[in-house]
Amino acid sequence: MAQPFQAVQVSDHVYWVGVVDWSVRDFHGYLTSRGTTYNAFLILGEETLLVDTVKRPFKEEFFSRIGSVIDPAKIDYIISNHSEMDHSGSLPETLEKVKPKKVYASKNGVKALREHFNYCGPLEEVKNGCQLTLGGLRLSFFETRLLHWPDSMVTYLKEDGVLFSQDAFGMHLASSERYADQMEDGVLYHEAAKYYANILLPFSPLIQKFLKQLPELELDIQLLAPDHGPLWREDVTRPKKWYEGWASQTPTKKAVVVYDTMWESTEKMARAVSEGLLAGGASVKVDKLRVAHRSDVATDILDAGALVVGSPTLNNGLFPTLADCLCYLKGLKPKNLQTAAFGSYGWSGEAVSELERLLEEMGLETAAEALKVQYVPDGEALQNCFEWGKAIAEKLG
Ligand code: FEO
Repeated sequence: MAQPFQAVQVSDHVYWVGVVDWSVRDFHGYLTSRGTTYNAFLILGEETLLVDTVKRPFKEEFFSRIGSVIDPAKIDYIISNHSEMDHSGSLPETLEKVKPKKVYASKNGVKALREHFNYCGPLEEVKNGCQLTLGGLRLSFFETRLLHWPDSMVTYLKEDGVLFSQDAFGMHLASSERYADQMEDGVLYHEAAKYYANILLPFSPLIQKFLKQLPELELDIQLLAPDHGPLWREDVTRPKKWYEGWASQTPTKKAVVVYDTMWESTEKMARAVSEGLLAGGASVKVDKLRVAHRSDVATDILDAGALVVGSPTLNNGLFPTLADCLCYLKGLKPKNLQTAAFGSYGWSGEAVSELERLLEEMGLETAAEALKVQYVPDGEALQNCFEWGKAIAEKLG
């Protein structure tokens, strides 16, 4: 059908009907430098199914893409794998147009959709492992609680071997190509890691459990279709292997130095500490928070063994960028990181003890006593910073 936006057929029965959001840069506090996609899928059998919708501002484009294949009013069923608004935002208008025979969701999904949208239409819970034949096609549903919300589930279409994995195995990456094998490896790895670090890290124990169960489900996955970023049709196990590594949070000999500065004294310390870390055998990433975004710091610590933070004292407390970043990192619940705090001060110097308190609240181990310098660090103070960094690196495995 003539439409400005066209669906893309991705398997015998499945069409991609999502949207590309080229310009989003803030995804609830996460810097999405490469934009994102909101993937939704039509399944065409003897009847028609829709898997998820898109963020609300893109609803017209979404309906146009569906309309390139079928009149949206002819959709019979909707499957809601995840009710967060980037996937359910267009659901109210979709329900109005489609008037589906049924909407399927997990138990928590049913509750979330009722409460988000006050939806009173036919909404049915699918239990973990439940199998249904719809439109002559066999579908199975598996709960993936907290991957990424309590309602999350994945849907498997047996005929085509497609796993609709919603947030799981996704990434924020806008592109005109639909498949991972059409994209650069380094970009894929970085964006998948950034997504894991900023969205999924707190749920790592549950993810490990899910990854362990996945082979037992005996799914013959030919196409892995997440709700963000590219689809995987070759080497579909690759993102699973990445997740196994990230979920284990195995510490490495990498140190991330995160700091900000007022009059360059803490910056001088950060540079000398970094040299010491390097001399002690660590690989080092330095993030100055005036230019580094909190979500990039979260990505940097995903495969690190140490988090070393520095702040000057401002108005008897932390420099605000450090407070922002540590509040964000605390919520992501990183594990197996050794930590240490440093900073310069003029009069009272409370920032460093405040850093120590916050790191302790994160439940992370301390690698070294805090290091403070009054006013501007001289040669001797910088040598101490170097030795301090070196000693921290030597503690890393
Ligand atoms: Fe892409 Fe948790 O939503």
